[in-house]
Amino acid sequence: MTGINTGLLHNYPVIDKYTGASSIPKYQTSTFSQTKLNDESRQFMYTRFGNPTVKALEEGMAYLFKSKYALAFSSGMAAISNVLMLAKTGSHIILPLEVYGGTCQFVSTILPRFGITASFVDMSSLADIEAHIQPNTCMIYIETPSNPLLKVTDIKAVCELAKKHKLLTVCDNTFMTPLYQRPFELGADVVLESATKFINGHSDVVAGVVATNDQKIYEQMYLYQKNFGGILGVEDAWLILRGMKTLGIRMEKSVYNAQKIAEFLETKKSVKKVYYPGLKSHVGHAIHMSQAANGGAVLSFVVDEKYDCDEFVSKVHIPILAVSLGGVESILSHPATMSHACLTPEERAKEGVTDNLFRLSCGIEDLSDLIDDLDRALK
Ligand SMILES: Cc1ncc(COP(=O)(O)O)c(C=O)c1O
Repeated sequence: MTGINTGLLHNYPVIDKYTGASSIPKYQTSTFSQTKLNDESRQFMYTRFGNPTVKALEEGMAYLFKSKYALAFSSGMAAISNVLMLAKTGSHIILPLEVYGGTCQFVSTILPRFGITASFVDMSSLADIEAHIQPNTCMIYIETPSNPLLKVTDIKAVCELAKKHKLLTVCDNTFMTPLYQRPFELGADVVLESATKFINGHSDVVAGVVATNDQKIYEQMYLYQKNFGGILGVEDAWLILRGMKTLGIRMEKSVYNAQKIAEFLETKKSVKKVYYPGLKSHVGHAIHMSQAANGGAVLSFVVDEKYDCDEFVSKVHIPILAVSLGGVESILSHPATMSHACLTPEERAKEGVTDNLFRLSCGIEDLSDLIDDLDRALK
């Protein structure tokens, strides 16, 4: 049993089996020539059905997720929408109230065309989840910690409830990565992530991953991958293969920075509230720490209303102001005008997404520089 960093460099097929290259090459091809009809000597036929570079990434992902199967998709949303298509016509899905906006939009606008309905519930209440289970419910979808308020769901308890009712559990594990949170060990059937975020880690790729131990689900997902065609491009697969090798050391530094910055922000009078599951003051701290290795690299905070948010962001110089998270550089987001802009002010207020709420995805910069930068901006 090796450590995380050794494993990420050696414990899956990292050497190209066709050439011995120490970096899996980019097999930048759409098709593969055959020497005869029905050529069984060829493993690959057409890149939408499979490609050696993408296959290498999928093997790497299966190692990372400790799953039997993993499939790569063209975005986190492609992974999510393909998984949600496991629901049959006439069925019903339960999701968190504060599920990722794209997932919410897909479930609310696309799935109803297939006669699939959904309930958005407070996942911190098992009773609430159970009360929403209908005879046609087929799936409980978890996302923990949530975006942007880092609400925590008890994965094991929800999976047990789902098993009791013979429902499938799907977990969006993007915020924690499989290094720090392992939903399969807690009973999940399918785990998915936006690999755009920490897994790739360099803000230069959009990608998604679906992992499972269930052969039937894998076969269904492979069919969807092939037929909907949301496959990952070769160049992007190669970039992620490179990015994932440093996932361990990147995450270690990002999480360290996040914990220290959350503790620092908690001491500031100009900050009214800090949301970070690694803080003892966080309402979901105990559950989160029982199912994850640490608080993760994302935190949110509310600055005093008397602050001008535009002025605050103009004074933050190190984190880039942008949507997304999980890059080596710190990323500051403003949910009210970015991820949650499509909601009305009333809907946002109901969710706790106020105009003075900011989300910080901590990168690997020097901690003292990040703290000095935020401190200066908050003055
Ligand atoms: C938790 C979560 N899941 C899924 C997604 C969608 O991923 P992508 O942008 O790669 O499609 C995001 C994007 O921000 C996210 O934050």
